[in-house]
Amino acid sequence: MVNETKRISPEEVSAQLDACKRVKELTEKIFPDSPPTYYIETFGCQQNEADSQRLAGICRLCGYVPADDIKAAKLILFNTCAIREHAEKKALSIIGETKHIREKDSRVIIGIGGCMVSQRARADKIKASNPYVAFTFDTGAIHAVPSLILGALKGEKRKFILSDNFGIAEGIPFYNDAPYKAWLSIMYGCNNFCSYCIVPYVRGRERSRRPEDILAEARLLIENGAKDITLLGQNVNSYGRDLEEDTSIASLMREICRLDGDFRLRFMTSHPKDASDELIAVMAEEEKIVKHFHLPVQSGSDRVLSAMNRKYTREKYLSIIDKIKSAMPDCSITSDIIVAFPGETEEEFADTLSLLEAVRYDMIFSFIYSPRNGTPAAEMDCRIDRAVANDRYSRLLALQDTVTAERNARFVGRTMKVLCEEVSKTDPGMMTGRGDTPRPVHFAGDSSLIGSFVNVKITKSDLFSISGEIV
Ligand code: 5AD
Ligand code: SF4
Repeated sequence: MVNETKRISPEEVSAQLDACKRVKELTEKIFPDSPPTYYIETFGCQQNEADSQRLAGICRLCGYVPADDIKAAKLILFNTCAIREHAEKKALSIIGETKHIREKDSRVIIGIGGCMVSQRARADKIKASNPYVAFTFDTGAIHAVPSLILGALKGEKRKFILSDNFGIAEGIPFYNDAPYKAWLSIMYGCNNFCSYCIVPYVRGRERSRRPEDILAEARLLIENGAKDITLLGQNVNSYGRDLEEDTSIASLMREICRLDGDFRLRFMTSHPKDASDELIAVMAEEEKIVKHFHLPVQSGSDRVLSAMNRKYTREKYLSIIDKIKSAMPDCSITSDIIVAFPGETEEEFADTLSLLEAVRYDMIFSFIYSPRNGTPAAEMDCRIDRAVANDRYSRLLALQDTVTAERNARFVGRTMKVLCEEVSKTDPGMMTGRGDTPRPVHFAGDSSLIGSFVNVKITKSDLFSISGEIV
């Protein structure tokens, strides 16, 4: 296939890295006493988390150091989400509060990136209503942030970047304060146009990074201590379709598994229409790949799936689940579910409940449908009444809770290899980590274990977590 993906030229990237140096020189004059501070607020998915690590890398290269608190920051960047209305409202409210920070110190720079401001209407609204915001940048323009900061410091006109053709930029620095747990974007964008979803409009068409760039980054992450690497993309199953070389998510994962080091590999998200036998086989074969498949179904009704433009049927989906279970009987399976899609009848909702019973997911992420301007579903009639939607949502959760508790219980008595990630938020004597299960694992320990693997004998499980003792 012809490689049509736009690549940001190395010259352009190096001009941006140069802009970082100029920002640093300028901030040394503007903030003569101590280095200025940055604060990044991230909303939404892992893709945004990964993008924010690039933003942090840029801020550091520009000479900014992290602020403990947004109020103390001299550079405030928001990385926004647009997937549901709630995400946008939350971001807009926090952005509004920064007006006072800027009023107190005119040296403060406020910039907004991410999916929300990749919509022209939102970027225009911010331009008109939030004059203290220096710039916005869409999801394809992260590499351009150094020159946006530079322009703002020099007092240039406010800028609002909306690209018409998103590319791929290599060589942008990143910073991860928990390097043992790494995100690795392998592709960007989405071509699927599910009828409810804003992503294809705000993240552009699917474009894959070259395997050699991904492998080089994987090596770097491992050298920096990565023990748990998640390959990221909106639909990682179609990785490589826009590349000339013959590659796929399965062959890419196989190559990454060949790298030296004690690490685990995960991937997300997968679209069922592209979940190949080869991918299931490589997961089953490779010890380093975590036996967890996140395979969003969205609905259990064929009529709703078709209205969602998902391009598979319930039967086809269940046949993939069967393949996963026969190749990896103990695999954890998780899903995203939307309830109250326009026109969803009680019978169609019951089809989703029965699908949950058939699959027996370890966990689901469930959402009440939220209309997104510009998507086909937002134009559909028969919006579901809020009370009905809430009721279906509660019933869905209640059913899944019983299944989740049952699935978690299967680990009791087993010993699990767990990556120790952090001190428990509720008990300072306990640590939290992750094994093969998507649920966190709790065990007694101290912070010296953070970033290393431990073997935990599981003694207890409940709905939200499983716990045990280091052996
Ligand atoms: N309303 C509700 N949920 C949505 N999702 C995507 N768009 C919408 C929407 N408009 C959910 C899907 C997707 C997950 C990331 O968010 O379940 O898989
Ligand atoms: Fe949205 Fe569908 Fe693309 Fe996922 S596959 S990002 S739900 S359009």
